[in-house]
Amino acid sequence: MNEFIRTELVGGVLSVTFDRADKKNAITQAMYTALAEATERTRTDDAVRVILFKAEGDSFSAGNDIADFLGMGSGGMSNDLPVHRFLKSLADLDKPAVAAVKGRAVGIGLTLLLNCDMVVVAEDAKLSAPFINLAIAPEAASSLLLPMVIGHQRAFEVFALGEPIDGRTALAWGMANRAAPADQVDAIAAELAEKLAARAPNSVRKTKRLMRDAEQLWALMQRENEAFGSQLSSPEAIEAFTAFSQKRAPDFSKLG
Ligand code: COA
Repeated sequence: MNEFIRTELVGGVLSVTFDRADKKNAITQAMYTALAEATERTRTDDAVRVILFKAEGDSFSAGNDIADFLGMGSGGMSNDLPVHRFLKSLADLDKPAVAAVKGRAVGIGLTLLLNCDMVVVAEDAKLSAPFINLAIAPEAASSLLLPMVIGHQRAFEVFALGEPIDGRTALAWGMANRAAPADQVDAIAAELAEKLAARAPNSVRKTKRLMRDAEQLWALMQRENEAFGSQLSSPEAIEAFTAFSQKRAPDFSKLG
């Protein structure tokens, strides 16, 4: 368990709540461990039928904690970090995952949604994947899943320009099941999760397994990790992370 990740099991729905609102729910490696534990528990515990990701505060998640990135940079990125345990648990998960998204969903805050089965977004939510602004690379199988869902050109723009898309657009592009006023998002997502928890569990699991190839997703996540890891210690990424911590725009003009 982790102080910034709260879990609660009610009626077969395991709620996993990001609770680090003052840092916009940016995710540290310790938080990834707690997320992995919850996701693994969902797969293995018969009492859990559905996992529901939600958040305290005004943002779903600002993505990976950037201070963590700076800490990892010098050593590159090994394959056995807590973030990879979480990604593997998502790839392996054959029970439904639901997400309730308000405010910002950045980086893995967005790519997590592509690994969920039902997504409810606030109409004014802002979803972004600014991997290229940070001079890194996509993760969580998003290099496959995002273009598959919204098309190559839109996905490339989301990755390359890093500009946010709002909840209404996310719904129109097929990234969400419902868009609603922000104050209704948690209730709608909880209702969907409860409905899913009441469905025949083995039928649900077999359906999800048929709809996606867990091994292919994990193989891709590992390939993405190689690109991500080799970028992490690059001069351009160090410049991007340092610029974030100094609250200025990065300057890539002198890097070749
Ligand atoms: N990692 C670490 N800390 C983060 C963070 C992150 N990804 N995102 C936000 N924070 C911290 C800020 O440093 C700030 O901390 P401080 O109060 O100690 O200065 C606090 O959370 C609030 O963030 P702030 O930037 O002031 O809020 P905002 O409402 O102006 O902007 C965001 C919100 C999400 C747009 C902005 O914080 C942001 O762009 N974050 C980085 C997102 C990102 O690139 N993530 C990595 C993707 S791979």
